[in-house]
Amino acid sequence: MGNRIMIFDTTLRDGEQAPGCSMNTREKLEMARQLARLKVDVIEAGFAIASEDDFEAVKTIAQNLKDGPIIASLCRARDIDIDRSWEALQYAERSRIHIFIATSEIHITYKLKSTHEDVLQAAVTAVKHARRYTDDVEFSPEDAHRSEQDYLCKVVEEVIKAGATTINIPDTVGYGVPWEFGARIKNLFDRVPNIDKAVISCHCHNDLGLAVANSLEAIRNGARQVECTINGIGERAGNASLEEIVMALRTRKDLLDFEVGVNTEEIYRSSKLLTSIIGIPVQPNKAIVGANAFAHEAGVHQHGMLQKPLTYEIMTPESVGVPQSRLVLGKHSGRHAFKKRLEELGVMLAEEALNRAFIRFKIVADKKKEVFDDDLLAIVEEEALAAGETYTLEYLQFTSGINIVPTATVRLKRENEIFQESGWGDGPVDAAYKAIDQITKIQGRLADYSIRAITAGKDALGEVVLKLEVNGHTVIGRGTSTDVIEASVRAYLNAINKIVGAARPPKDMAAPRGL
Ligand code: KIV
Ligand code: ZN
Repeated sequence: MGNRIMIFDTTLRDGEQAPGCSMNTREKLEMARQLARLKVDVIEAGFAIASEDDFEAVKTIAQNLKDGPIIASLCRARDIDIDRSWEALQYAERSRIHIFIATSEIHITYKLKSTHEDVLQAAVTAVKHARRYTDDVEFSPEDAHRSEQDYLCKVVEEVIKAGATTINIPDTVGYGVPWEFGARIKNLFDRVPNIDKAVISCHCHNDLGLAVANSLEAIRNGARQVECTINGIGERAGNASLEEIVMALRTRKDLLDFEVGVNTEEIYRSSKLLTSIIGIPVQPNKAIVGANAFAHEAGVHQHGMLQKPLTYEIMTPESVGVPQSRLVLGKHSGRHAFKKRLEELGVMLAEEALNRAFIRFKIVADKKKEVFDDDLLAIVEEEALAAGETYTLEYLQFTSGINIVPTATVRLKRENEIFQESGWGDGPVDAAYKAIDQITKIQGRLADYSIRAITAGKDALGEVVLKLEVNGHTVIGRGTSTDVIEASVRAYLNAINKIVGAARPPKDMAAPRGL
């Protein structure tokens, strides 16, 4: 058995399944492109049969991501799911059909209302069906960690005979503790006679905060694939966090002598992109990608760091791609310097995207004396995600103060048409939103709104992230500006555009790199 660990990223499937984490096809493609730059081995792009949107996302990713990771789609152990997955996956250069069915007593009895024999039969039949399409078939006995061991061994043996090439062992409800989960993996190696014909994988949920520890124990006991998500997003308490597993393997190579293909310098960017898409920030003390992960506040720590970084730093911020927030550009910087700095940050933009981002940069640089790397990344990210939006902001004017009625006038462009409306409200943001509602005729409920400064200073770029509910559908909007009212309007428009855009087929995004 080699020591190479495959990283199977399920941010776009298990992660996206979590409340508030849904993404549209455009966003999934953008995220998939970043995961390819991160060099994960497998991207689980969705659950093709679950909805039209899921199907579109898997298909779009399969069509657009070339020379990259294997693209997988999840299926229940049913022919109809497998056929639908293949319909979407057939365009991928390398694809995988991932089949699951529950094998624990509690799931078989109460959820599936079935029997152990029927579940085993369904699993074998499904794997055989999938093998007609591809020779890369993964099988997951859902709730494996709570499944009876003899039965689990039997299922694993039979699905390998039927043609499964990867066997994924999920701790679906995050119940296991590390030595117990590791022993379960070892038990399979000890008792399943044909185990060497498949790659063993683990898939740990984080209900007890043990998902990463359990995954590392699985690796120590023979698993050679780990399923995980960026920022650890996923059902309930989430899935095992990709960045924590990868950096644990890399930092503790003395104890965990394994290889991963991940380009760790893309970790921070991947985390930031996901945050900006789903609008859920990571906690400041989150390992690896939290805002405080590399901050040394205490005087004694700072002193130690200055003497020798290793006193308090077990890995460097550079190794995970955390940009050092330093002054780089100002209002006199030209397009060439702008492009060059972006390239230094690892951001390559297609011509059109670069032009749009440069125009935004000039506007920001005019208002803000110092433009930091974080500002640049925020501008580029917003432009990439906004590419191809239906409505664009042409003009915004508002009045507000004490003892006057706040009003706003908004002018939007849609293709070649210009629309203008005015509104009044509780404040300038409310007034502007009302004006936009009159133009777009979309009445939404603002379910959440937050604002933060991207960098320090009174002239910092402000970022607004909001959630808009329209007809029971929630979308995230994001906007940045040195002016918080403008940032609020851009965020609202970004959300409205997602509602409008959901009705249109997704366009291929020309930008090879959105962040
Ligand atoms: O948690 C789980 O059991 C899953 C399977 C579908 C792999 O997500
Ligand atoms: Zn899961």
